[in-house]
Amino acid sequence: MSSPVINKLVVIGLGLIGGSLAKAARERQLCTEVIGVSRSQQVCDRALETAVADRAVTSLADIAGELAAGDVLVIAVPTLAVAKVMAEVSQIVSDQVTITDVASVKGSVVADATRIYGQLPSQFVPGHPIAGGENSGIEAVNSQLFENHKVILTPSDSTGEQHLQRIVQLWQGAGATTEQMSVAEHDEVLAATSHLPHMLAFLLVDTLAGMRDNREIFRYAAGGFRDFTRIAGSDPVMWHDIAQANRGALVSTIDHLMGNLAEMRQAIDAGDSEYLLGVFTRAREARNHFTKMLEMKAYMEPESDNNVIFTVQPGGAVNGTVRVPGDKSISHRSIMLGSLAEGVTEVTGFLEGEDSLATLQAFRDMGVVIEGPTNQGGGDGQGNGRVTIHGVGLHGLKQPAGPLYLGNSGTSMRLLSGLLAGQAFDTELTGDHSLSGRPMNRVAEPLRTMGARIETAENGRPPLRIKGGSHLKAIDYKLPMASAQVKSCVLLAGLYAQGETRTTEPAPTRDHTERMLSGFGYPVERDGASATVRSGGKISATTIDVPADISSATFFMVAAAIAPGSDITLQHVGINPTRIGVINILRLMGANIDLHNEREIGGEPVADIRVRYAPLKGIAIPEDQVPLAIDEFPALFVAAACAEGQTVLTGAEELRVKESDRIQAMADGLQILGVDAQPTADGMIINGGDSGCGKIGSGEVESCDDHRIAMAFAVAGLRATGPVRINNCNNVATSFPGFVELAQKTGIQVTEDRTR
Ligand code: S3P
Repeated sequence: MSSPVINKLVVIGLGLIGGSLAKAARERQLCTEVIGVSRSQQVCDRALETAVADRAVTSLADIAGELAAGDVLVIAVPTLAVAKVMAEVSQIVSDQVTITDVASVKGSVVADATRIYGQLPSQFVPGHPIAGGENSGIEAVNSQLFENHKVILTPSDSTGEQHLQRIVQLWQGAGATTEQMSVAEHDEVLAATSHLPHMLAFLLVDTLAGMRDNREIFRYAAGGFRDFTRIAGSDPVMWHDIAQANRGALVSTIDHLMGNLAEMRQAIDAGDSEYLLGVFTRAREARNHFTKMLEMKAYMEPESDNNVIFTVQPGGAVNGTVRVPGDKSISHRSIMLGSLAEGVTEVTGFLEGEDSLATLQAFRDMGVVIEGPTNQGGGDGQGNGRVTIHGVGLHGLKQPAGPLYLGNSGTSMRLLSGLLAGQAFDTELTGDHSLSGRPMNRVAEPLRTMGARIETAENGRPPLRIKGGSHLKAIDYKLPMASAQVKSCVLLAGLYAQGETRTTEPAPTRDHTERMLSGFGYPVERDGASATVRSGGKISATTIDVPADISSATFFMVAAAIAPGSDITLQHVGINPTRIGVINILRLMGANIDLHNEREIGGEPVADIRVRYAPLKGIAIPEDQVPLAIDEFPALFVAAACAEGQTVLTGAEELRVKESDRIQAMADGLQILGVDAQPTADGMIINGGDSGCGKIGSGEVESCDDHRIAMAFAVAGLRATGPVRINNCNNVATSFPGFVELAQKTGIQVTEDRTR
């Protein structure tokens, strides 16, 4: 730290939290001097011995006169002792000094401050670091305690901006991140996530200790007991204070839990396996979900400042036989229809990518018991992604407890909106930064015509708020754009609408929804560009084998098509006629592609695709191929850059509203790499090089948080003249977990680094 962010730092209370903050500030030189205050001379002595403070005093009065603007005073005593300390502070500390606290309950502290000062003083910034441990006191002090932890601040309208900024800087300097929320929200959230678990741990130990054979019990109480009750070793005074100070919120969470506990007791007594399996599977998955969140994985923490960077060394070829992960579109639909089915649906080959997992989690949040995905081994993808869905029927979903968070996934949001418009309950759909910028009126408008009540944010962007209990009427909808998501959304709403719902598309788009509905025994009439469903049918459980995703296979197809010496076979790839634009376009460019072992699996055609290097030439891409290759253009632009002559794409304005503006993102990156790529309103003009010699240079490009842009540039490295560095590749896991490992295995010299 180059210059201190504050002048003097006074910490009243040198326990675990206060002492650790004092020591962190001192070590990181966040202030000019750290002064500790403790009533105990022994603690003061220890603070000096262990370098927790520069000075330590037993009374605030000894130093209060020295404090002025730019100084910070931290009240780090147990919650119910804050009032007494604050009363003293209010008498002797100048109103220029910034004051904060670290108590676990904010309502009581803010009430104390208001009472003592007559109003909430502008110098006071209520705070709560979400850090700690079961050990307490100055001996437990740890200057790294706040590293990568959150600190919640609950400022009010009257809090002075300079005071707030000083506290933010102090905590950030100590390694924490800060967040702001209201006092009431803080106390409710903490009652559930911290206070309740502590009450349970204390009570469980106390209950067992009070049982007659307690010695025997404790002798055998190893793993589970130890894990569950670790926090019962925490400071009793601190927890006594919290229980009293957050009485209201804590009582209501306890009531909620007691209801569920009574239900569980009954289920255990009655041997109700479905109930038990439901609770355990949902809880285990929710826990994994939260763990990801805590680890700041891209799925739940897209805004995190973790930057995954791909670096590709130039040259090489791709060879071998590989299987890429399961089809994203089919994986989403397998969860949706499996959940609405009657009976148990078994899925294999499910894509364990963050997008399809977002759909899976959404259905769990609506009460569906879904086991898996479990990995059955098999190395190259075979046997992976086993999911068992205990369908609840078309009318069996339950209202989720909060908004459904769909990460980066447009397919989840658009298909779910149709399905949820027909439910009896309200829902809210949210997503990450990229999804929050994507157009949703294309689904909201037809759904409103059907009678759905849907609100969007400004300009038709997420979040979507969908009112339950609407009586939907069927429509005959002519899609204004070629979009499988919009078509599927309307058809799914049609399952709940009175009458006959028909969609007519301007050009063929992927028809997985129609095929899968039929596979689940739900009648869908298809007539040219139209598809029709009626409500009142039944979805019957089935088995689904998800083929490998042709959109993921595309990166290796293009890799082999551009890198001399390549010969790769991609196994078990879905070659649904509405998805094979990439094969058609690459063949038109001169690529050497053979399909082997063509077969039909569960209503979807599948083949092994072999691609051998052959020189490519530029073409005018036929517009009728655009919807059939809509996700493949980032990679196809790279193929065009390596082709001899000009490639022109038109009629592809939809690319501008994908996970990023894919026309701009690719044109920008290709230009950085020295490629003559000119973006147009609805496509791109790329002037490739002479065949056989790479025209792609070296450089640093942005993926714009878009998985397919990141992977396309990784492939470009094969024909680059120097290293290619690709920033912000976090989202690759949305569609292609394990991309880097598979790319390395085939011969692409890509490595992955994570920076902050
Ligand atoms: C998808 C449809 C396409 C595609 C997306 C998946 C689907 O979107 O880009 O990755 O599963 O229905 P549009 O329908 O918006 O073209």
